[in-house]
Amino acid sequence: SNRKFFVGGNWKMNGDKQTLEGIIKGLNDGALDPKAEVVVAPPTIYIEFTRSKLKKEIGVAAQNCYKVASGAFTGEVSPGMVKDCGGTWVILGHSERRHVFNEPDELIGQKVKFALEQGMNLIPCIGEKLDEREANKTEEVVFRQMKHIADNVSDWKRVVIAYEPVWAIGTGKTATPDQAQDVHKSLRGWLAKNVSEEVAHSTRILYGGSVTGNNCKELAGKPDVDGFLVGGASLKPEFITIINAKK
Ligand code: G3H
Repeated sequence: SNRKFFVGGNWKMNGDKQTLEGIIKGLNDGALDPKAEVVVAPPTIYIEFTRSKLKKEIGVAAQNCYKVASGAFTGEVSPGMVKDCGGTWVILGHSERRHVFNEPDELIGQKVKFALEQGMNLIPCIGEKLDEREANKTEEVVFRQMKHIADNVSDWKRVVIAYEPVWAIGTGKTATPDQAQDVHKSLRGWLAKNVSEEVAHSTRILYGGSVTGNNCKELAGKPDVDGFLVGGASLKPEFITIINAKK
């Protein structure tokens, strides 16, 4: 495919200026595959700090943002604020937003719509829980989540989908390459049927969930796995191995 390999590092709620500076230095000095697109998502308060230290080839994302530009929404930040601080991407609908902070599909859809209108690039996330997989509901769940996203996408060129099975996130229980490939292929089929062949063909679908330096190559070898959204390992030197999984 001509889909550019994409690796996102989601730092979640980790780090302080000192440790993040170390991670940033590792990325700036690392030998990164120039054919890979790389984006990191620091905690919101460190977006500007990260942008100011990180080489320009690497993009900076917010881990979340709100669905309107400004107003009485204590604790929230808008896409415009992220942009103003140098962030050009935003992760939306991450599993922890859905399941720890109870964000429903409808809200994630509204956020997708607004962030795109504001000019952001997006990484919307989807994925089934363990009980849903065991009940053979994986497709039903990820298709429902995809529909709420897709209904709100005005420009697919600025969207990279992340498939993250909830049971694989932060558990060390990575999906097998075949399990990832199966869902990615189904999602591409869904896009072909419900959006267009062109969007299905050109949209990157990332895998996330306990990706490591050791398992990244085999996962990246699957035809419908176009990259990764990495949590824990993105804080470690092995993130560079993951970025270079296709090298
Ligand atoms: O956004 C990243 C995912 O939640 C994966 O996290 O690599 O720590 O399992 P993890």
